[in-house]
Amino acid sequence: MNYQWYPGHMTKAKRMMQENISLIDLVIELVDARVPLSSRNPDIDELGKNKSRLILLNKSDLADPAANKQWMTYFKERGFHVLEINAKTGQGIRAIQPKVQEACREKIERDKKRGIKNRPVRAIVVGIPNVGKSTFINSFAGKACAKTGNKPGVTKGKQWIRLNRDLELLDTPGILWPKFESEEVGKRLAMIGSMNDEILQMTELAQELLACLLDCYREPLLSRYQIAETGEALTPVQALACICENRKCYKKGQEPDYEKAAALLVDDFRSGRIGRITLEMCGENREEEQK
Ligand code: G4P
Repeated sequence: MNYQWYPGHMTKAKRMMQENISLIDLVIELVDARVPLSSRNPDIDELGKNKSRLILLNKSDLADPAANKQWMTYFKERGFHVLEINAKTGQGIRAIQPKVQEACREKIERDKKRGIKNRPVRAIVVGIPNVGKSTFINSFAGKACAKTGNKPGVTKGKQWIRLNRDLELLDTPGILWPKFESEEVGKRLAMIGSMNDEILQMTELAQELLACLLDCYREPLLSRYQIAETGEALTPVQALACICENRKCYKKGQEPDYEKAAALLVDDFRSGRIGRITLEMCGENREEEQK
């Protein structure tokens, strides 16, 4: 399978980010808690250097709670401020404001020393497509928040949402381009639905997903699709055939419809119906780093 993002989009996204980042104090970066590394573009570290940094593990409701804790530690150890949230329900959002103050303490102190009063922290929300940026801005800023209008030095059309006395948010999120460093990254982004499904081979993707699930989330997988454990090794192809049979995915003439079974599995996974699953495990990455 070929996972790609167009170079034209990439250049435009990068230019926008550079423009916007020069205006702000704090980068709020959303990552998908199910794949916290694959859903980041590490170039943001270069773009956002000298800025305060807050990473939000979004969609934490869909990810494995134990892995969420590990990922929190992982990012903290690398000097980021970090929180786990669910932008859809608003869970975890209340903890953000105090975290922002903590992340920007140096800037706030500096302003105080210089006699600058009441200058709010300015923040931008960034992340790759589909990670939940718009949902987050809606839930964090709320619809009631007034926009502050254009300001001198701000590119025409840019709007700041004033959340309170201490914080302003740029209303348009910064789009980071996914970084397809390896095929593995592309696969994981496809699994969580960050790519256009039309270009994907569903059965191939489902088999990749099944390989991960059989490895790390075997019990919830087998129980969801009532696949009996026989003691024999179960391959992804066999597992897909079982799903096909158990969910009665047939074409006309009782021919198995693997495409349909694959789409059903991927959709169940993306909606959290198989359980809370993290595809990228912290321990595994640590081991890789240490090699
Ligand atoms: P983007 O701006 O970064 O591109 O992402 P957007 O907010 O559009 O969110 C992408 C999808 O992710 C949306 O689903 C949104 O509801 C969902 N989402 C965002 N945050 C969370 C979260 O914390 N948990 C869960 N479970 N889902 C989240 P959608 O399929 O496009 O719409 P819908 O199903 O909500 O109608």
